[in-house]
Amino acid sequence: MTLNKEILQSAIEEFVLSKDDLQKVREDFTNEVKATEGSSLKMLPSFLSTPTGNEKGTYLALDFGGTNVRVLKIKLLTKGKYETIDKVAAPLIKTGEYDYVHKEATGEELFDFIAKLVKEALAGDTGEIYLGHTFSFPSEQLDLANAKLISWTKEFQTRNVEGENITELLKASLKRANIENVIPVAIINDTVATLLAAAYANNNALIGSIYATGHNTCYLEKNYNGKPMIINLESGGFSKIPQSSFDKLLDEMSEKKGAQFLEKATSGRYVGELFSIATAKAFGTDKLFDFSSVELCDMIVNNSANRFIKLKTNYVPTSDEAELFTALAKNILNRSALLVTSTFLGLYDHIGEETLSIGIDGSLYGKNPFLQEIISKELKKTSEKISAFKVEDGSAIGAAIAAAMGSIS
Ligand code: GLC
Repeated sequence: MTLNKEILQSAIEEFVLSKDDLQKVREDFTNEVKATEGSSLKMLPSFLSTPTGNEKGTYLALDFGGTNVRVLKIKLLTKGKYETIDKVAAPLIKTGEYDYVHKEATGEELFDFIAKLVKEALAGDTGEIYLGHTFSFPSEQLDLANAKLISWTKEFQTRNVEGENITELLKASLKRANIENVIPVAIINDTVATLLAAAYANNNALIGSIYATGHNTCYLEKNYNGKPMIINLESGGFSKIPQSSFDKLLDEMSEKKGAQFLEKATSGRYVGELFSIATAKAFGTDKLFDFSSVELCDMIVNNSANRFIKLKTNYVPTSDEAELFTALAKNILNRSALLVTSTFLGLYDHIGEETLSIGIDGSLYGKNPFLQEIISKELKKTSEKISAFKVEDGSAIGAAIAAAMGSIS
């Protein structure tokens, strides 16, 4: 295999966005948040406002939306404090054993698997307990306890789930597993969970975001038909972003073509794939080498491009060439963080509060201080009064808070 350095160099440049590009993303984002029709943002009401901080008690939190399902028993202690009493987790795919996100798997099988985990988390407990469910996919909320999946994202394909009431699927599985003491009272998006967890501790938190396998943001709309309401933007679906030739190829190869443009340019599920596509082009091959977001970050932080290129492609790069691959990883991730920040700023312009904090959960953000820095620096350019902070375990804590809010409403 030979490496064409010119192609690699031009790929690196394709991932650079100008100030004007970013300003346009910011303005288009504000416009789409405000638009009453024709927006690529779904703007889904959550049937929840932010918590008071006084919520307390013990709840089950079911967190479903990435590669692992988790069930936690969480004791809320008010004002941002909580204790995790029990925790069980299992991957949705075990190679050679099962795959619950594949198109051969059914919704029943998937939720029976989840019900088994709920049973494990209960550990023999038979007392009545309320459950909050973080379900991290675009869903139409019927009320706080019930939501219908609009469509899968993040390449999930399980059959007989799209269009279904997720809470009904869960309840049916709990019944089949003879679990009678668990009462699902709230189903929320993970961005909403993150905002709930952030606002439980911090009054200025008005935006919640996930920067992980997927990417999405929600915010507190102070006046939604006269009352406050958290709105899940489904911002991964935002379509007004400049696309490189690699973004277009990635979209062609994806499960849902023509959708989730922002997510496909920014999130952990896809940034590695963008690198793989660009690398394949530079080597003049159709074969993709399957790089992950974790490897891209490692290349940047530990200067390990040399090792990963050799490992995946068998090609031994010179040190100049390795630097080019590092630059490619850097530009892909830099663009990702800049795009995400532009959408935060677009939302900031819409909300119109001077002081505001953004709670962010997710592994891509949480594990990579260099991404956190890019976001903070960009926000500061607009105002010192906007800040972003890490929300630990937001998806789970938020589910418990939603259960607390749901059990009294
Ligand atoms: C995808 C989902 C969205 C979720 C995000 C982060 O974008 O559509 O609902 O919030 O991933 O998990």
